[in-house]
Amino acid sequence: MARRLALITGASSGIGAAFAREYASRGWDVALVARREDKLTALAGEVEAKHGVSTLVITADLADPGAPQTIVDAVAKAGRQIDALVNNAGAGQPGHFCDTSWDDQARFLELMVTSYLKLMHLTAPGMAERGFGRIINISSVSALVPTAKAHTRYSGTMYPGIKALLIKASEALGAELKDKGVHVTAVAPGYTWSEFHDVNGARETLSNVPGYWMLKAEDVAASGYDAVERGVPLRVPGAFYKFMTGLARILPDPLARAVMARQEKTIEGK
Ligand SMILES: NC(=O)c1ccc[n+]([C@@H]2O[C@H](COP(=O)([O-])OP(=O)(O)OC[C@H]3O[C@@H](n4cnc5c(N)ncnc54)[C@H](OP(=O)(O)O)[C@@H]3O)[C@@H](O)[C@H]2O)c1
Repeated sequence: MARRLALITGASSGIGAAFAREYASRGWDVALVARREDKLTALAGEVEAKHGVSTLVITADLADPGAPQTIVDAVAKAGRQIDALVNNAGAGQPGHFCDTSWDDQARFLELMVTSYLKLMHLTAPGMAERGFGRIINISSVSALVPTAKAHTRYSGTMYPGIKALLIKASEALGAELKDKGVHVTAVAPGYTWSEFHDVNGARETLSNVPGYWMLKAEDVAASGYDAVERGVPLRVPGAFYKFMTGLARILPDPLARAVMARQEKTIEGK
């Protein structure tokens, strides 16, 4: 039997590259998607040599509305089908909502929301028909705790709302496909070492946060893989963030906001 294929967006660095390594280490072929071809090609060579799997490298800008169809067509042209989809590509939209152009906001939404939904819409029917599929959507802890200004300053005012949508979308699609062998999981990481904070300019600010707030991309990927295999709808990787999001669920709103205000001071180094 041919090996299964996992398509991973944003595989050129951080959490996406870690998912590619995780899937390859478990014997899956991987299709790697991002804009930087050199990084994807290097990762493809690495996992082929280390795990003996096959790879596809697909360069695409997911802020382009045509990208999801082009990606799925490229996989079909290679004679493969997508058995697992890891929707992970992303970047912040720094700056105040009111000060950024709608064109910038629209590209942000295309990358962070529409491309995720389109890729699910293009791949989930085939998974359901074949009776097997795995879908992971990378959300964020920011979707599960009160919103602090420090969280949105670099990622974007709409970032927590976008990531919250991915949790509900995963839960709903997972329920719809429950009896078809398709598992859908939202993975909500907290602060994770990656290029994300270099791209959005938050690297220096993040140096204020305690070490135990920082997750490793490989731990996020291992936790996400485990969750989707178990059919868990939402996974928050790491003990600290499990505790923090659990607390946010049980505390009365004003108290939860007060805790976040305290955290905001830590992030700002005050
Ligand atoms: N790091 C954190 O603290 C954290 C916390 C919670 C959630 N997340 C989420 O985790 C996901 C991955 O982020 P990361 O932390 O691994 O950051 P990262 O290291 O910056 O990786 C982002 C990936 O997305 C790709 N990407 C960005 N814009 C793209 C575009 N227009 N088209 C195609 N690919 C694009 C980048 O590749 P190219 O530049 O080569 O295109 C890169 O591979 C994001 O959805 C982010 O919101 C991150």
